[in-house]
Amino acid sequence: MAHMNEKASQEQVSQMFNAISFSYDRINRVLSFGIDRLWRRKLSKHLPDGNHLRLLDLATGTCDQLLSLMRTGKIAHATGIDLAQEMLKIGEQKVSKSSYGEKVDLKVASASDIPAEEGSYDCVTISFGIRNVKGPCLEEMHRVLSPGGRALILEFSLPKNRLIKWLHLFYLRKVLPAVGGAISGKRDAYRYLNETIEAFPYGEAFLSRMKKAGFVHLRALPLTFGVANIYIGEKE
Ligand SMILES: C[S@@+](CC[C@H](N)C(=O)[O-])C[C@H]1O[C@@H](n2cnc3c(N)ncnc32)[C@H](O)[C@@H]1O
Repeated sequence: MAHMNEKASQEQVSQMFNAISFSYDRINRVLSFGIDRLWRRKLSKHLPDGNHLRLLDLATGTCDQLLSLMRTGKIAHATGIDLAQEMLKIGEQKVSKSSYGEKVDLKVASASDIPAEEGSYDCVTISFGIRNVKGPCLEEMHRVLSPGGRALILEFSLPKNRLIKWLHLFYLRKVLPAVGGAISGKRDAYRYLNETIEAFPYGEAFLSRMKKAGFVHLRALPLTFGVANIYIGEKE
């Protein structure tokens, strides 16, 4: 029964992303003042050493993170998976317009039930996705990594400084649903965004989840006053 509920709510999440897919990239740029691009580039700088890496990007959506990772020139082959077909369609167009089409495969699949053998990847990434995934995502990331492989996670968080946190909460609760709702016509989707950000563990609390899933050499790198974090962990 719990599994049924999980499946139903996961379906709602992918339907919501399908519904906003056409305006997703534009709204990201507006709502983050373009900073999301810098955060993605920063995550890409933490790829493991090597120039023939096998990469898996989970909840890849419209492929902005995946393409930023490809631009490093370190990836031999990348797979991107997502549950929302319409997000992937936009991603597919962007990948085929880029020079990385030959090196990238995109699939509809779940980040909590990854269709890959144990140890298949040198690096597994997920940006602004893990908050939305129901089920054992971190455990699956750990399983499909090869020994010595690295997980890189980019996710929203809340600033520690009380004044900045207050300002940021105002932005999340008031500005974001109004602006996101006005551009996409789907106000609920942008209310969902602030509710999930406020409810999701961050900093040490998130690292302890990663530790429980088996990751070692854990680090959290706060970005822009702590409104987002990059989490890094490795498989022994
Ligand atoms: C906020 S978007 C992030 C997209 C992309 N990673 C980026 O950085 O722009 C979240 C994505 O997670 C996907 N998603 C949610 N639950 C998922 C799951 N269980 N498995 C795979 N993708 C999922 C959604 O369909 C959506 O495309």
